Amino acid sequence: KRIVIFASGSGSNAENLIKYFKTHDKASVVLVLTNNAKAKVLDRCKNLEISALSFNKIAFTQTNDVLNLLHAAKPDLIILAGFLWKFPENILNAYPNKVINIHPALLPKFGGKGMYGMHVHQAVVTNKEVETGITIHYVNENYDEGATIFQATCPVLITDTAEDVAAKIHELEMKHFPLVVEKLIS
Ligand code: GRF
Repeated sequence: KRIVIFASGSGSNAENLIKYFKTHDKASVVLVLTNNAKAKVLDRCKNLEISALSFNKIAFTQTNDVLNLLHAAKPDLIILAGFLWKFPENILNAYPNKVINIHPALLPKFGGKGMYGMHVHQAVVTNKEVETGITIHYVNENYDEGATIFQATCPVLITDTAEDVAAKIHELEMKHFPLVVEKLIS
């Protein structure tokens, strides 16, 4: 099976998925797409010898350029891993039930526009949550609202900072995301 990943920043999840599927034969990552030409994910892909391209907002939302890149890549699954732009409906309609996202909290808590990265972890700490976690879910036309596929949790201690929470979430993501994708695609 063929996986295409969208990422906007560091790309540690993209790298983890790429590496996992280099040694597990159910799927492979064939292309990484980013909206940020300076994103660290592009360096990671270069080192891992995975095709990667950046695109701008017009190509994404007003033309079929990105859709055509996808059609050429023939993905069985499209994974958003730290991708920060809203996913356009024309692409969702072309790949129904084939676009998934990972969110660093237990949706429906701490989701929606503006809730990404450290903003999420800071909100978890400020709200005095006793647990948080990750949500892997289908993508629909609203931010962070598609059907849940998988969740995993971790405790939040009263002494935890947002950085501490981020580290725990990172660990959950590294452990579970490739396994959930493998299961989904098999
Ligand atoms: C991850 O925490 C992911 O859950 C979220 O954005 C972060 C991306 O990190 N949606 P990275 O770019 O994969 O390192």
